[in-house]
Amino acid sequence: MWRTLDNLDVSGKRVFWRVDFNVPLGRDGEVDRFEDWRMAAALPTLDELLRRDARVIVASHLGEPDAPDPRWSLAPVARHLAKLTGRRVEFTGEITGPEVEVAVRALKPGGILMLENLRFAPGETANDPSFAQALAALAQQYVSDAFGTAHRDHASLTQVARLLPAAAGELMVAEINHLTDFLKEPRRPAVAVFGGAKAEAKLPALARLLPVVDQLLLGGVLANTMLARRGLAVGSSPVAKDAADALGELDQYANKILLPVDGQFALPGPSRMAGRTANLEDIQTGEVIFDIGPETARRYGHVLATAGSVLWNGPVGVIEEASYGLGTKLIAQAIDPKRTAAVVGGGDTVMFLKRENLLGRFGHVSTGGGAMLEFVAGNRLPALEALGYYS
Ligand code: 3PG
Repeated sequence: MWRTLDNLDVSGKRVFWRVDFNVPLGRDGEVDRFEDWRMAAALPTLDELLRRDARVIVASHLGEPDAPDPRWSLAPVARHLAKLTGRRVEFTGEITGPEVEVAVRALKPGGILMLENLRFAPGETANDPSFAQALAALAQQYVSDAFGTAHRDHASLTQVARLLPAAAGELMVAEINHLTDFLKEPRRPAVAVFGGAKAEAKLPALARLLPVVDQLLLGGVLANTMLARRGLAVGSSPVAKDAADALGELDQYANKILLPVDGQFALPGPSRMAGRTANLEDIQTGEVIFDIGPETARRYGHVLATAGSVLWNGPVGVIEEASYGLGTKLIAQAIDPKRTAAVVGGGDTVMFLKRENLLGRFGHVSTGGGAMLEFVAGNRLPALEALGYYS
């Protein structure tokens, strides 16, 4: 079994706290307080570490730089962490080296020091043992809440966890517990909602979920692909061309799968914002399905209103376009948090629901997109493996 904070004596120790503070920055280069939910979700661990007088070294990646690049510096994230906690957060501007060592030595019990973006060092994604050693040398213990990055075999996520006494933080434990509850003992009826793009990446998760759930509500490219497979016209809507075989395997669960019956259709290009509502059989050549229609929203909403548990990944409309968020909004509104244990994941969906003030419908908001999908699909996640989760 893996170790949690309860069995790690962090008092006075230097703790390397790996988090996923990969948050969007606004035009002003600062963290937008509406988009800082990944940071806020990890704070219970920080509170606990500080309560126990740990000396906390915060480490994260931001974006996908492969060399130092001021646009991806964690300096604004360190400033935002100071705002969120009301505490002083030192920022090194480096990841390893003499300056960092001096800063680490100066760290007092209850102090916080943030390292520069781990991905500025090529050794992070290359999983270089000497880089891992250099990171581990900064600390005496390791705590991880980086669930959003748990599917990556990177130095700070796997090797450092093996070089130091390591534990899963409170967020990491909560993520795994909520997903495991849904997969193993969901309150019934259990409903999954899957939408958005990247259909191929979502199919393995669906294959594992379908035997478990009572109903699956589909939107986005997955729905288009399934509709097309059933011989229905989807106009010029995107479909997952390589998904035919994987979708074929889901046919045995056809009676659990609900598909859109109507939608918001528009021609792509400049006139796309002016969509029209129509039944699916009335879609015209060249039109694209931008959102579910009112009858689909009513049917999906009815299923969600009586669900015991919900697992949601991906919007049912093209929420990047201001006119096509309504379907996603309406069905989220149908969830009754008093009766339904609902979990939602996937960065864009979460940001949209947050902006619409609908996150309160969900008992757990996952900080994982890709990691959540891989965990649900039953894949072994390298960072969880390094924390001893599977042993
Ligand atoms: C994410 O935003 O999905 C995680 O932070 C992982 O980021 P990555 O896909 O760049 O590894």
